[in-house]
Amino acid sequence: MTLSSRVQSGRLIKPRRALMYGVQGVGKSSFAASSDRPIFIPIEDGLANIDCDRFPLARSTKDLMDAVAALYSEQHEYRTVVVDSLDWLERMIWDDVSAEFGVKYLEKADGGYGKGYSYTIPRWRTILEGLDALREHRNMSVILTAHARAEKFQTPENTAHDRFAPRLHKLASALVQEWTDEVFFATYTAITDPARVKTDAPQRVMRTCEGPTHVAKNRLGMPPELPLDWVAYDYYTKLATQPQTEGANPDG
Ligand SMILES: Nc1ncnc2c1ncn2[C@@H]1O[C@H](COP(=O)(O)OP(=O)(O)OP(=O)(O)O)[C@@H](O)[C@H]1O
Ligand SMILES: [Mg+2]
Repeated sequence: MTLSSRVQSGRLIKPRRALMYGVQGVGKSSFAASSDRPIFIPIEDGLANIDCDRFPLARSTKDLMDAVAALYSEQHEYRTVVVDSLDWLERMIWDDVSAEFGVKYLEKADGGYGKGYSYTIPRWRTILEGLDALREHRNMSVILTAHARAEKFQTPENTAHDRFAPRLHKLASALVQEWTDEVFFATYTAITDPARVKTDAPQRVMRTCEGPTHVAKNRLGMPPELPLDWVAYDYYTKLATQPQTEGANPDG
């Protein structure tokens, strides 16, 4: 086989894998519910007021993997799988590792000293591989949600400050962030003008690029801040696939 017959060129845009994290009630689940034909695998309560198709509440990692397996093997028209939320999934993974070592708390696993956290990583990988299989073989996008927490960030200049990050153990957080194509931080715009504060409701936005106050990333050349609206994400996904796409710019 010649080199030219093996080399592919151009951009390959596959279904997206996104992590949407943010403070409680900012609109993470609503964002996912407005995506392209979504099906939720709920891991926390909180979907009652959201109009969406969903599996029963997953109470174990087995429930989650059973739902993924059903989406893999059965006929359906869903285009997006939503795992809502990872904070609760992480607790279930901790329970699995604790059970494996016959201890009550993850901290005690394998003799203690926090070693238990490293045993969670292969389990996270298995779950992400399951979601990748939906992406590869069923052409489904993935949206993961998580709450936010402040973490200490050491700058290259050797100063430290707090910034927002997904509320996950640092090993799991790094793995999930690396796996996803996009990490969005959902928050409210700060209005500092006292005359406007009284009249304008704060706007819900998503930050799409890393900044001093938060962790985020995107592979689509998105502006650093967009309305917290799936249409905005879809616009930039389509723009990357078909540069000639016309339509209203959700940024303006
Ligand atoms: N873009 C939006 N504009 C206006 N209201 C919104 C928007 N997104 C969500 N809401 C409202 O905010 C409330 C919380 O939304 P949602 O449940 O999606 O938030 P969440 O971030 O998933 O919350 P939780 O942290 O509890 O999971 C709901 O009443 C919803 O209707
Ligand atoms: Mg929610």
